[in-house]
Amino acid sequence: MSLTRLTTGKYITGSTYTVVRPVLPPMRVGTSIRPFSSSSLKHIRLFLPSTETENIRKTPPAWPHPIYTDEQLKQIGISHRETRNFGDKVALSAIRTLRWGFDLVSGYRHDDAVAAHAKDPAMAKQKYSMTEEKYLIRNIFLESIAGVPGMVGGMLRHLRSLRRMRRDNGWIETLLEESYNERMHLLTFLQMAEPGFFLHLCVLGAQGVFFNAFLMAYLVNPRICHRFVGYLEEEAIITYTREISDIDAGKLPKWEKMQAPNIAVQYWNMPEGYRSVKDLLLYIRADEAKHREVNHTFANLNWKEDPNPYVSQYKDEGKPRPSKAMDGKRQNGWERQDVI
Ligand SMILES: [Fe+2]
Ligand SMILES: [Fe+2]
Repeated sequence: MSLTRLTTGKYITGSTYTVVRPVLPPMRVGTSIRPFSSSSLKHIRLFLPSTETENIRKTPPAWPHPIYTDEQLKQIGISHRETRNFGDKVALSAIRTLRWGFDLVSGYRHDDAVAAHAKDPAMAKQKYSMTEEKYLIRNIFLESIAGVPGMVGGMLRHLRSLRRMRRDNGWIETLLEESYNERMHLLTFLQMAEPGFFLHLCVLGAQGVFFNAFLMAYLVNPRICHRFVGYLEEEAIITYTREISDIDAGKLPKWEKMQAPNIAVQYWNMPEGYRSVKDLLLYIRADEAKHREVNHTFANLNWKEDPNPYVSQYKDEGKPRPSKAMDGKRQNGWERQDVI
């Protein structure tokens, strides 16, 4: 089969030109080659087919995910680190403002819904209930934003290390790994729904604004930025906890019947029998809990000098120390005097 097609035509000036056009292979069933779509999220299909080449069998994840046990996944919960200084208050107010604005725009009004439910459950359900589709849109948008801070922090620390000709002491890798992990969350949700044109536009606009704002903020004060991410993760955990309890309450019947996409099963090493959408959300929530712990810890450290405790080896090996594993005991981060 010919892979190219020639088209000949004339310029306005009279001289001729030839265009070489690739002939696209026929579309595979169950996949979409459209760059975007404004279709509704009514049907759940598989997207993002992996690229097949002649020589490559598989491209495994750059950072293999640590194994989480079912017990660890279930001990994660909502928690809040109280503000202790002015910088913490700035970070928390920024998050509260962003959350309020986003809830308003996306029509996610949990508190209003609870209040309305107490008065008139039928009306509340009709007006406020979150469906699988609405949650997916919200998750896709938020994960596309959540992947930004780690990359910005990692990039700026990388440039600083090059510029100052000094070691970074291990922060860069953890920050890049965090952004990679957030992107895996996004890629997983994209296997469950195809975003429409408007969502693509929102992500584009939000990334343009948020990337630049976070970059500037990180140049001025990395400590407040890590606290900001810590609070952002607290909010993410609240959202995923609500999704999990909505599944438990039977409010998301489509998700009850669905299995986690393949990409997720492989990335988290999800054992057989633990591959439902609820299990998937438990894994993602646990990741957010790790980001919460890491970023609150980073915000407690001296960013200029201190080594990253998550990749350090300690002289005294008997004591509990920060690690990639999920321990669930230091949800609000480690204090500097305990790790440095
Ligand atoms: Fe995430
Ligand atoms: Fe996160």
